[in-house]
Amino acid sequence: MDGRVAVLASGTGSNLQALLDDPSIGPHVVLVISDRADATALERARHHRVEAAHLDPAAHPDRAAHDRAIRNLLRERDVDVLVLAGYMRLLGPGLIEAFRDRIVNVHPALLPSFPGTTAVADALAAGVKVTGVTVHLVDEGMDTGPIVAQEAVEVLEDDTKASLAARIHAVEHRLLPAAVRVLREGRLVVEGRQVRIDEGES
Ligand code: GRF
Repeated sequence: MDGRVAVLASGTGSNLQALLDDPSIGPHVVLVISDRADATALERARHHRVEAAHLDPAAHPDRAAHDRAIRNLLRERDVDVLVLAGYMRLLGPGLIEAFRDRIVNVHPALLPSFPGTTAVADALAAGVKVTGVTVHLVDEGMDTGPIVAQEAVEVLEDDTKASLAARIHAVEHRLLPAAVRVLREGRLVVEGRQVRIDEGES
């Protein structure tokens, strides 16, 4: 595999930017897809002369058809690795099966705590002292796939959602590129729920 990377993003795309700026990943990002026409992520892609595609869920009769459109484009562009970077929709089973163990998602909490789309607010509301970032492989569930990497972020007494999210983002921008790098290099070994990095011969 050549390690061609596609990124799915719905919003700002700061994680996409971190991937584009990483010299070992940026040149391999061949496609960015968004479900939203106004996603800043699409602008970031165009700015880097990476193909930017808006695939509108409303333009397809159902989720399966939208999923098929994504899968067809990934296949046409010969994509090996798929990164969900702030993609706010669940992928369908066909797409997940086609890219089994080759899709990663970045999540702003230490899974399995606080899955879902409001993880930073949920952590604050729960009063936890430590939250963090998880990069995981994507399976059919919501934020349930095998964990590739995690890093803790301390919750400070005077944290707001914005201040905590900012520190979480800074960690995401390191952890996600590091995980994508090993996935591209085919060095992720998945055994059930356990994921380890093949360090090669020493
Ligand atoms: C990140 O916090 C990520 O963990 C979550 O969505 C957010 C996307 O941020 N899945 P950005 O669009 O990459 O700035």
